[in-house]
Amino acid sequence: MMSTPTDAAPRRRQATSPDTIDLEQQEGMFRSFFLESMRDAVQNVLRPIDPIPAARRAPVPSGADPVLGHLREGVGDPLTAFLRWRAEVGDVARVRLGAINCHLVSHPDLVREVLKDRHRDFVKPIQGRRNLSKILGNGLLVSEGEFWLRQRRIAQPAFHKRRIDGFGERMVTAATELGDEWARRDEPFDVSRDMMRLTLRIVQETLLGTAPTEDADRIGEAVSYISGEMNRRFRRVLQAPEAWPTPANRRFARHREVLDGAVHSIIQERRRSGVHGEDLLSMLLDTVDDDTGESMDDRQLRDEVMTMFLAGHETTATALSWTFYLLGKHPEVARRMREEVRGVLGGRPPTADDYRALEYTRMVFNEAMRLYPPAWIMARSPRVDTELGGYAIEGGSRMFLSPWVVHRHPDVWPDPEGFDPERFRDMKSIDPFAFFPFGGGRRMCIGHGFAMMEGVLILATLASRFHLELVPGQRVEPEALVTLRPKHGVKVIARKV
Ligand code: HEM
Repeated sequence: MMSTPTDAAPRRRQATSPDTIDLEQQEGMFRSFFLESMRDAVQNVLRPIDPIPAARRAPVPSGADPVLGHLREGVGDPLTAFLRWRAEVGDVARVRLGAINCHLVSHPDLVREVLKDRHRDFVKPIQGRRNLSKILGNGLLVSEGEFWLRQRRIAQPAFHKRRIDGFGERMVTAATELGDEWARRDEPFDVSRDMMRLTLRIVQETLLGTAPTEDADRIGEAVSYISGEMNRRFRRVLQAPEAWPTPANRRFARHREVLDGAVHSIIQERRRSGVHGEDLLSMLLDTVDDDTGESMDDRQLRDEVMTMFLAGHETTATALSWTFYLLGKHPEVARRMREEVRGVLGGRPPTADDYRALEYTRMVFNEAMRLYPPAWIMARSPRVDTELGGYAIEGGSRMFLSPWVVHRHPDVWPDPEGFDPERFRDMKSIDPFAFFPFGGGRRMCIGHGFAMMEGVLILATLASRFHLELVPGQRVEPEALVTLRPKHGVKVIARKV
């Protein structure tokens, strides 16, 4: 049931321009909530912080602190808090994180409204946007408005199915080589680390076309450090300004320079030689916007390559780690998947053409992403005062759409906590806003076809050779960082099958 409003009349107020919202209001979620709440705590005592009259507000979950609101709960354990808020007050929950009013929006119809039907009303406040743009510049994840649209139009053809199919072989080769390593290993290991290594190698090879060389190792090390640092920053309450020469800042700058330098020299080399390969960078170099005739300049290419590096490896690695965890917990599902893979492949390695036929493998991967969506939260901000689900919502406030919560909505998903790949037998029956691991609407993940192909081919390659048995007695629990990672990893023993 969707929550019902107490007063539907919206109150409209002109807010700052979209650009101002971008820069001033999209700078980070939890870390900045904490900092802002400290700054504003004194003011809160002096002025009422809630501009919306009580009768038109969405219901507020219990337990708010008079000064910090729901901050402690929301920052301490957001996964539990979000589920509790929805269960207690319904599909639009109004919470205050420090001085910032936020809404958790949990019904698929409302998610559709925000991401698709009324996308113009809501801008995209990327987590840690200020920090993020220092790394990603004005890449697709960060940009907004006309600039974003132009970039998306130029980048889109690089993700055409035919192009992605061309990457299948690299994906399978990398997975086969990892399998060869597993075959020699008899010690338990953390499969989430291996998945991170594997997807990093794949994104590197498909983006830049680099073979695994020493230079590639340096690039890989830099990307892995930067994505680790983004997660550390997400959790850190206090962050020294970038310009301060702290050891962490210096290390970060060093890794960023390695990556910048490598990407720039590859771009220069391609431009100089005129020799373009089949990798994503070449496609981005070659593509011209049909409408404007424009292509990307070096700066923009660098930003997009960096974005795809970071958006494109940890997410897929996390999805695969959870899939192996769930297969370890449900050996009967692992057996069925193996049977499918053997039936389709008959012992040969998979290719992109097998993707369609590997239906159960896809179902398993989707069900794993339902339970553990790597992008567990998306944030938006209304441009102006508006209304959603019948409740008044002030312009510039924050809105959270959480696949973690919606994928467990009891009105949509029977036995929400159960692992049952059969739910995905008929994809057409699934509401794309009840299951939205890749987001939705026009900002939907540009790499979703790539990630699905990669996930399925890796599973097919490895699961036909091994069953990963979970090491008993370990605690496997999700940690809500930039992605939803297994906090202590997933320790397994690879048994040959
Ligand atoms: C399982 C893997 C993946 C998941 C779960 C995932 C999830 C997402 C989600 C939820 C968004 C939308 C965020 C929002 O609307 O606020 C997004 C955007 C994006 N993703 Fe992915 N992603 C994955 C893999 C990839 C890959 C492999 C690439 C590239 C190679 C990629 C590149 C991007 C880019 C560039 C955007 C921004 C698109 C735009 O705003 O136009 N992602 N991703």
